[in-house]
Amino acid sequence: MRYDPMSPTTLDMFADAEPEQQPRRERIGEQSYVLRGFALPWLEQLLPELEAVLAAAPFRQMVTPGGFTMSVALSSCGTWGWTTDRSGYRYTRHDPQTGQPWPKMPQVFFELAQAAAREAGFADFVPDSCLINRYIPGAKMSLHQDKDEGSYAAPIVSVSLGLPATFLFGGFERGDKSQRIGLLHGDIVVWGGVDRLRYHGVLPIKEGYHPRLGGQRINFTFRTAG
Ligand code: SIN
Ligand code: FE2
Repeated sequence: MRYDPMSPTTLDMFADAEPEQQPRRERIGEQSYVLRGFALPWLEQLLPELEAVLAAAPFRQMVTPGGFTMSVALSSCGTWGWTTDRSGYRYTRHDPQTGQPWPKMPQVFFELAQAAAREAGFADFVPDSCLINRYIPGAKMSLHQDKDEGSYAAPIVSVSLGLPATFLFGGFERGDKSQRIGLLHGDIVVWGGVDRLRYHGVLPIKEGYHPRLGGQRINFTFRTAG
């Protein structure tokens, strides 16, 4: 794992330097919220589970149907993993790289996603897919809608860890004006209901070093896919 190269003692020295959010809820759409710092209390439980998932299903860069290699590296856990290759975007039960089922979604991932959804007004969110995105400086995610899921009834819960990002939260057409939302380590964005199909993306990540996760941003995107 790249994110923990330093000893606990050294990490303590950096603890004050870590940009962190005070917990608060910001409304960014009719049924969309940023939950500042929501994931922070879960972090020490999340990271070992993340490590185990990545040992079974390592990050890899996938190719879009148009033939472009994504700058973001991906993995997944849960029943369904989102993948892309020359033949299209889809959810699969197996990791195409290993031929194995995607790693089971750790219970703590599920509970965090459910708690965040509840905080944003979506009771009983049952995610069956967690896409894990890794951004190194320069990596970005172009504006897109999440629409490969079987139904749009469930919200999207998107957890940010590590380096800061500028999240773009747009409208229902690609050309609609986007809000630019700064996301820090521990922030969670939830959108669903009437906002479920809003365009969103991430501007290129800036160079930096996060005391806990190093030179990367990790994003978990929880969805009900099946
Ligand atoms: C995504 O839309 O899949 C990722 C969003 C993010 O990294 O914040
Ligand atoms: Fe997305």
